[in-house]
Amino acid sequence: MEPSLIVALDVPAIEKMKEALNRLPDSIEWYKVGLELFCAEGPAVLEPLKRRNKKIFLDLKLHDIPHTVACAVKTAASHGVNMMTVHAIGGRAMLEAAAEAACECDAPPKLVAVTTLTSLSLDDFVDLGITRTVSDQALALGELALSSGIDGLVTSAHEAGALRSRFSEALLVTPGIRMPDGDVGDQKRVATPAFAVEQGSTHLVVGRPIMQADDPSAVTAAIFGNMKNAL
Ligand code: C5P
Repeated sequence: MEPSLIVALDVPAIEKMKEALNRLPDSIEWYKVGLELFCAEGPAVLEPLKRRNKKIFLDLKLHDIPHTVACAVKTAASHGVNMMTVHAIGGRAMLEAAAEAACECDAPPKLVAVTTLTSLSLDDFVDLGITRTVSDQALALGELALSSGIDGLVTSAHEAGALRSRFSEALLVTPGIRMPDGDVGDQKRVATPAFAVEQGSTHLVVGRPIMQADDPSAVTAAIFGNMKNAL
C-alpha cells in the first residue's frame, strides 16, 4: 500500500477550515479533524470535506464504556468518516466493541489506537501506576488493540520500526513529520517523511508545515517527493 499524507486541520472554526481548503492543493486526499474543530462545529464541519471527495480522519481519541464508544463509532461512520482514533487504554471490551461496531457499518471506518500520549513522561507513568517503560507500554497496548480487532496504531516514526516488525499488517499513523530543513515547533521527536515511510508508517500526519506555509503546494509536493524517496 502506498503511504498516504494526512493534513491536520488544526483550526478553531469552519470558516478557517474552508479558507485552508481553498489554499491547499488538490493532491491532498486526506484531512484530519480533531477535538477543537469538531467541538466547535459538530459533524457539519465534515460536509465541506465530503463535497470535495476528501477522506476524513476524525481524531477524537475515544475512551469510554464499550457501548458508548460503539455508538460513537457508528454515528461517526454515518457522517462519512474514513478513519478514527480510540484509546487502547480503554481495554479489550471497549476495543472489541469499537471494532465490531465499525464492521457493522455500511462503510466501515478504519480504527487506529493511541497507545500512549506523547505528552506523558516517566513521572506521569509513576503517577498512573504504570511500571512498564514507554516503549514496552506501546508494544503491549499495540498487541492488545490489534488482537481486539483494531486496524492500526498511532505512533511516532521512532517507534514505528519496532511496531512494524511485530505487527506486519497494522496501519501505522505517524505525526511529528518535518522536512529536513523544517521548523520543529513544539514537536520533540520529529522525523522526515522518508524516515517514517522507511520505518513502516502507512499514514503521515502533517499540520503546521503545510497549513502555515506561504506556498502550501510547493511544500506538499516536496513532502510527497520525500515520501517517494523511501519507496
Ligand atoms: O503541526 P504538526 O505537524 O506538528 O501537527 C501534528 C498533528 O498531529 C497535530 O494535529 C497534533 O495534535 C497531532 N499529534 C501529534 N502528536 C501525537 C498525536 C497527535 O502531533 N502524539
